[in-house]
Amino acid sequence: MLSRRQTILHRLFPSLFSAPLPPPPPVWVPLGALDDFPDGQGQPVVIAGRKIVVFRLGEEVYALHNACPHNRVPLSSGSLTGHTLICRAHAARFDLKTGAVLRGPARKPVRTYAVRQTGHALEIEVR
Ligand code: FES
Repeated sequence: MLSRRQTILHRLFPSLFSAPLPPPPPVWVPLGALDDFPDGQGQPVVIAGRKIVVFRLGEEVYALHNACPHNRVPLSSGSLTGHTLICRAHAARFDLKTGAVLRGPARKPVRTYAVRQTGHALEIEVR
């Protein structure tokens, strides 16, 4: 276990240390209840200052950054075809589970966030 001072030095001067730092632990933040999210529609939320869109498909919940990587249009206004998210602006398609680009004009994937359900409550992982 590194002290706070050692951790700061490690982050500022990583070449001074032989072993890389372990990744920070996941931080789970309450997202709401499953019923708070309409089935098949994007629900924009702001969690820890991040713009996120949450899609619910039955019992499955997915969270992605709420901006298309092509031209920053909110993906919450996009439409779903199964697990494919279609941007309303220029019809780029993304895999809802991974954020991967399925069809351009977007070239970069959309950031995704892990969501877990404990009882009726949903939590989202933010780092
Ligand atoms: S802004 Fe989404 S495809 Fe162009």
